[in-house]
Formats: sequence, C-alpha cells, structure tokens
Amino acid sequence: MAKYRIALMPGDGIGNDVMDAAQIVLDKIGLDADYIHADIGWDFWCAEGDPLPQRTLDLMKETDCSLFGAITSKGKDVADKELAPELQGKGYSYRSPIVRMRQLLDLYICLRPCKAYPGNALNYKDGIDLVVFRENTEGMYVGVEYAQVPEAFYAVAGMEKLPRDAAISFRAITPGGSERIVRAAFDYARQHNRKKVTAVHKANVLRQTDAVFMEAARKVAAEFPDIDFDNANIDAMGMWLLKNPFNYDVIVTTNLFGDIISDLCAQMVGGLGFGCSGNIGKDYAVFEPTHGSAPKYAGQNKVNPIATILAAKMMLDWLGEGEKATQVEGAVAAVIAEGKVRTYDMGGDSGTLEMARAIAAKL
Ligand code: NAI
Ligand code: MG
Repeated sequence: MAKYRIALMPGDGIGNDVMDAAQIVLDKIGLDADYIHADIGWDFWCAEGDPLPQRTLDLMKETDCSLFGAITSKGKDVADKELAPELQGKGYSYRSPIVRMRQLLDLYICLRPCKAYPGNALNYKDGIDLVVFRENTEGMYVGVEYAQVPEAFYAVAGMEKLPRDAAISFRAITPGGSERIVRAAFDYARQHNRKKVTAVHKANVLRQTDAVFMEAARKVAAEFPDIDFDNANIDAMGMWLLKNPFNYDVIVTTNLFGDIISDLCAQMVGGLGFGCSGNIGKDYAVFEPTHGSAPKYAGQNKVNPIATILAAKMMLDWLGEGEKATQVEGAVAAVIAEGKVRTYDMGGDSGTLEMARAIAAKL
C-alpha cells in the first residue's frame, strides 16, 4: 500500500492550535502518510488577493485528501479595506475559500455526525446520535448575488415585485444535486444500520426549489423500503430536535438549512469544540472541525481540539483505515468519560495540546 499524501491546511487563528493537536494523534496512531502544508486563509487574501491560492488547489489535486483547520473571513466592507494597497481597485473580490473548494472539487456531501459521548457534561441529553447530510455545492450558497436587482430582470414576469433597492441572492436547487445528496444519506443509513432518514425543507413557502428537493428525496426513498423516511419543515425541525432529539437518526437537507441545523446538532453534543465535518466528493474529501478561527483564543493553547481529532477520525474512515478510526474514537470517548483532562469549554483548564496528548496516550 502506497504512503498516503495528506494536505494539512491549518488556516487562521485557532486552526493552527487544533491542527498541531490533531497531528499528535495522527502521529501516535501511526498512519503511513506524508503531510504537506497548504496555504489558505485571510493572510493570503490580504497579500495575494486570494484566500485559496491556485498552488493550494493544485496540491489538493495531487493528494489523497485534506485536513483543514479554520479560516477567518470578514464582510465585504472590511475585506476590501484589508486587501494590500497595491491590489486594491484591481477587481479582487473576497469569496469564502471553503465554499469555493467545495464547489471547485465538487465535494457535494457535507457529513456532520453529532454524537453525545457518555460523561460529557455538555451533552444536552445523553444518547444523542445524529448524522446530518448537508448538500454542499448549490442552494443558497451557489454564489450568485447582486447588490442591486439588474434592470433587465424587470422584464421577466413576477420580478416587478422586487423592490428597486433590493440586494438579491439566488437559491439554486437541481434534481441531480438533490438526488445525489439524498442517495448518499440513504446509502449511509443502510451501511451504518440506521433506521430513519428525515428530509428537511421549507416546501410550503419555497414552492419551486424545495419541490425539486422533495421530489428527488421521495424518489430515492422509494428505493430504500428498509429505511423509514419522513420529512419536516426547517423551522419546525429546530423545535423538534430540541424537544425529541431521539426521534431523529439521519437528516438530509439543502445547503443553508444544513449549515444551520448542523450547528444546532453540534451544540446538543457539547458545542463547537465537538463538531466535526467531512466535505466529501466522488474522489476527494476535506475534513474539518465545524468551528471557525475564534481569533480571541488564537495561539493560546486553550481551545478544544476534539472536533478536529474527530475530523481526523472521519478522514481515517474515508481512507479505509476503519480500525485506526475506531481506535481514535475510542480514545476520545475514554478521555471524555474519565473527565480528568478538560478544556475550558468543558469546565476545565487543560490546554489544547494536553488534551491531544491525553487522547494519544490512550492509543
Ligand atoms: P468561531 O467558531 O470561530 O468561534 C465562536 C466561539 O465558539 C468562540 O469564541 C469560542 O467561544 C467557541 N469555540 C469555537 N471553537 C472552539 C473550540 N475548538 N473549543 C472551544 N471553544 C470553541 O465563530 P465566530 O466567532 O463566529 O467566527 C470567527 C471567525 O471564524 C470569523 O472570521 C468567521 O468568519 C470564521 N469562521 C470560519 C469557519 C471555518 O473556517 N469553517 C466557520 C465559522 C466561522
Ligand atoms: Mg457553519
């Protein structure tokens, strides 16, 4: 078996802290891999006008997969001002490097498991074990936005309802994009012995786009008679998840709804310090914690690395290293259950690296 080649993208802020921690665990588990550092994030926007430089995309193409930390991103007003003076006024425009890599590499599955590890005082309820499948390339994040409605739009019937000073964002939902994410959710359910898939939408209001999503969902569900299928409106789903979290198993939804619902699910199992994520395409994947760069904690060896270590566990699974993945998860679970090493968010004062070493010590 050839050595794996894995791109490591720490990014900004605490992305660096948690990546150092994940590396400790990966070294201990003894994965036969070369890790290659990749540039991504705010500094590269400021200096080069691109937070996801072409050399990083090239590196991704020649590696097996990536492990990514977190990046800082800011609104347009601030981003434009912080761009290097010599690049200003030359047409550079900030776009989220994560959203861009998901689209460019067609990483259409955003897989976010949310599991309450026994002994974690932050669990909303013990026993929660949900998986969210978020569509990762289209929907509200397709990236077609206008600061003002283009005049030509008013020639189209119905568009006259748009106020003249409206900024607009497009939500694009395709039958193919919907079908493949729902199929991924059902395939996962079958492989992992899950009982139910719930499709989340707002079909009563978003009558065109979510009709496409739900039609695809019902079509795929019919191919999996062994797995229960139900559906819920996104707003009600927020309420139901808090009320009856045990009624849900695998959740599948469009991009923006999935972004929201997966943070809610992460909070039910301990918060952002525990939320891990895989961006998965047909032949490439990028694994990451769901949290951001938390600038106020950057470089302080303070934040919880468990989300990133669980992302590394997902990476091992995806690489086909299931045994190592199970060992990493077991080590995380053991340290949480013991409750001796706890980062600040868990009510303790252990450092990021101390947590990583405690997990590595269980391997
Ligand atoms: P954030 O996730 O960076 O932090 C919010 C708060 O959550 C932190 O202040 C901290 O209290 C807590 N937190 C986050 N990660 C933690 C960890 N590992 N352990 C313990 N506590 C943790 O979100 P925020 O403050 O909204 O955004 C900060 C920057 O990160 C922004 O520039 C934002 O655009 C970016 N961001 C990047 C993401 C990514 O790279 N995937 C995702 C979300 C935000
Ligand atoms: Mg998010």
